[in-house]
Amino acid sequence: MTPFQWTLVAAVLVLSSQAISAQSLCDTPQCECDDTQSQVRCSCRKVPQESQEIVLKAQGPGHVPRVANNVMVTHCDRVKVMSMAFDGARLLWTVDIESVQLLEMADEAFGWSDNGGGQQQQHQHQPHHHYHHQGLTVTITNVTAVPEVPSYAFRGRLRSVTFNRVRVGVVRPFAFSSLTGTTGRIEFRDTVFGQVDQQAFKKFTVNEFVLKGCRFEGAAPSRMLTEITVHDELRLEEVTFTGVVHSYAFRVHGPKVFRVQNSRATCVQSDAFEVKCRGPAFVEDNAFGRLERGAFAAVTVDAHKVAEADYQEFVFENNTVAEFENDALVFDTNGFRPRVDWLIVGRACGCPARWRNDLVAFSTDYPRHTERPVWMVEQTAWCATPDDDGVGDFGRLVKAQQYDEAHCLPGGGRGTGLGRFHLTGVALIAVATLTAALIYWAWYKKRKRGQWTNVPASSPVKTRSILKSGGGGGGGGGGDKHRHVMVMPEGKTYRETELHVIVERTGTTDNQFKSTANYHQRAQPLTSDL
Ligand SMILES: *[C@@H]1O[C@H](CO)[C@@H](O)[C@H](O)[C@H]1NC(C)=O
Ligand SMILES: *[C@@H]1O[C@H](CO)[C@@H](O)[C@H](O)[C@H]1NC(C)=O
Repeated sequence: MTPFQWTLVAAVLVLSSQAISAQSLCDTPQCECDDTQSQVRCSCRKVPQESQEIVLKAQGPGHVPRVANNVMVTHCDRVKVMSMAFDGARLLWTVDIESVQLLEMADEAFGWSDNGGGQQQQHQHQPHHHYHHQGLTVTITNVTAVPEVPSYAFRGRLRSVTFNRVRVGVVRPFAFSSLTGTTGRIEFRDTVFGQVDQQAFKKFTVNEFVLKGCRFEGAAPSRMLTEITVHDELRLEEVTFTGVVHSYAFRVHGPKVFRVQNSRATCVQSDAFEVKCRGPAFVEDNAFGRLERGAFAAVTVDAHKVAEADYQEFVFENNTVAEFENDALVFDTNGFRPRVDWLIVGRACGCPARWRNDLVAFSTDYPRHTERPVWMVEQTAWCATPDDDGVGDFGRLVKAQQYDEAHCLPGGGRGTGLGRFHLTGVALIAVATLTAALIYWAWYKKRKRGQWTNVPASSPVKTRSILKSGGGGGGGGGGDKHRHVMVMPEGKTYRETELHVIVERTGTTDNQFKSTANYHQRAQPLTSDL
């Protein structure tokens, strides 16, 4: 060989050795690895003179080492994750991407399977691997912009996916789909979504699916989550839906607990949440701009539980509902025992308040077998005081029932509250009639008595009476009652006393006197003034 040939061979050897071992991530200036290349740590900030960008890929120069267990990339301006970037690393457990300005994902960026891709499918010890590896954990934290989560970005065997303080431009259809086995947890925390496409989350099983402190700037489209099975918890907490939550946006089966808490939504359409629960549902402390008919009507209890009559709680408490259609709140009572309290409605109270009838429905088969718990709405609803009630505290919240009692007069409206007023009215009229009848009857009796006997002028009673005038001396005929009128010091006349005198006079025995006198005292209390 000539010296030139030797040089050529040497150059080829050097190049090929680099291609084999020296060109993984571990050989890039931004990254550090341990001796076995199992721990890969990359930070662009440590080498400010170098490029502030990192590309993660499975093959070629700067690829993810095949033996890596943990890969961490922090503090870079830009990170690009190529298709199946981690798929060659079969021992990989965690991928963390943190404090990055721009994170770009290719299709299938985080697609991963522990058999390392299609060509090794036939390998006979693969099933063994499945039992040992629960899947890859992907954590994306503090990323200023993820322009797109493309289709199949997350697929395969993933143990958990967490987005924390991330701004996502758009989530494409099937972005989270075809996840193998059961994923432990998918969580979005303090994440802003510009746009989420239909079927962005499709067909997988997960133990917990959590949205916490997130904001959806666009609509939550129909079938945003579809064919999803959640084993443990489906939770939306402190989530803001700036746009419409469309019908069937959440189609989820099986959560042991379903929560929508401290969230706000501009508009929730009919059946927006189609959630078949295997446990209780909690919709608490939320503010809804508008609820359309049956917004939560498709939150039901799993058929098996219903068959076993294993009733679950549906707690709907402390929610503000500004606007709503009729039957906005339909609760499925096949499997749920709804508990509604502190229902704050964005309506003025008003006396003919129709919404009390039309807002809430308990139904086993809407709209056919429906019950309207008006009594319950009355007890639990709060409404705004109208501005025309003269108190000048427009908009102050008041319990619907209290407003009713204070402002709604009988006949002024309808509903059971007014029924109570009617009842009171009837009772009052009955008492008045009875009293009048009694008085008349007594007067009639007295009159009759007066006709029976005459009153002699020289009644001994008169002498101890405070008689002022009248018929002291006259013998008096049958109808001569006026002569016996007694005048009390106040100037009032008591005709009844006349009768008293008569009785005393006519009675020949003490017994007679007493019994008659007693009778008069009972019938006419006025005589007791004597
Ligand atoms: C978040 O990321 C930015 C860079 O994108 C960084 O400057 C900032 O310090 C990070 N914040 C935290 C709390 O890590
Ligand atoms: C009711 O919900 C609001 C949020 O809509 C919250 O601020 C408030 O603390 C809740 N009240 C109670 C008693 O939980």
